[in-house]
Amino acid sequence: MAPTEEPRTTRSQDVAVGRRLTVAYGRRVALSDCDFALPAASVTALVGPNGSGKSTLLNAVAGLVPPGRGRLEVLGAPAPAPRRRVAYVFQTAASNELLPVTVREVVTMGRFAELGLFGRLRDHDRRAIQAAMDRLEVSDLADRHLRELSGGQRQRVQVAQGLAQEADVLLLDEPIIGLDLVSRQRILEAVQDERAAGRAVVLSTHDLEDAELADHVLLLAGRVVAQGRPDQVLTARNLREAYGGRLLGANGDRPLIDDDHHHPAAHPAEAGQQP
Ligand SMILES: Nc1ncnc2c1ncn2[C@@H]1O[C@H](COP(=O)(O)OP(=O)(O)O)[C@@H](O)[C@H]1O
Ligand SMILES: [Mg+2]
Repeated sequence: MAPTEEPRTTRSQDVAVGRRLTVAYGRRVALSDCDFALPAASVTALVGPNGSGKSTLLNAVAGLVPPGRGRLEVLGAPAPAPRRRVAYVFQTAASNELLPVTVREVVTMGRFAELGLFGRLRDHDRRAIQAAMDRLEVSDLADRHLRELSGGQRQRVQVAQGLAQEADVLLLDEPIIGLDLVSRQRILEAVQDERAAGRAVVLSTHDLEDAELADHVLLLAGRVVAQGRPDQVLTARNLREAYGGRLLGANGDRPLIDDDHHHPAAHPAEAGQQP
């Protein structure tokens, strides 16, 4: 373990704090003994190889999986936080494109946590929906079905749904992996705007360049390998520790990561896990 910044004690500047947090699915431990803090009004990147627990950490902060051992506080109280205060944009599932729903309907679902499923939309809800669509530049697509969109447009719609929720914490699971330049740009701008508005954004990525754009990085490998500023965390030594044999080489200070999406056979335990 190469310690970097010590995780801070609980304080209001952190939207989530884990203390010796262990999260398991049944008997399978996905994250063990994690001490971490996710700062408010900041962008945090969760980095680590496939199966390192990035989605699991997001699931835990969202309250979708309970902490096993240890503690997890979200927004100052033991998890789960009230649903409307944490927005979660899942990793794009291929099945989404088959849903017979329009762009506006998908973004409107972002208000359900606030309204309940059968609540009536008020003016404020409509404004939040429209503003979110405008920010991601999907307003022109509002009446189209998801299946009529490109992958990048669909992803922008999912992020717009997250923004429409107007939560304090925005969780994005691999939001910009493999996207076209425009979609990537719109999403990154939305992320920066959220931070500027004082909200916390936590996104997972296996792209180190994306991670370098964050204020704070958590490097995961079934545990917290390192956390702190990108330049403190994304060192060759830490990355070697997290990625092990998957680190193919070093290009100056930037090691190359063998993204095992392309090599599922190299990690049989994790094969088939990704869509
Ligand atoms: N629903 C689940 N049931 C059982 N095991 C799971 C589930 N989701 C993830 N895991 C396991 O937990 C570990 C961490 O997975 P995950 O958080 O999805 O990693 P990442 O997002 O970094 O790829 C992996 O070993 C994975 O196989
Ligand atoms: Mg994941």
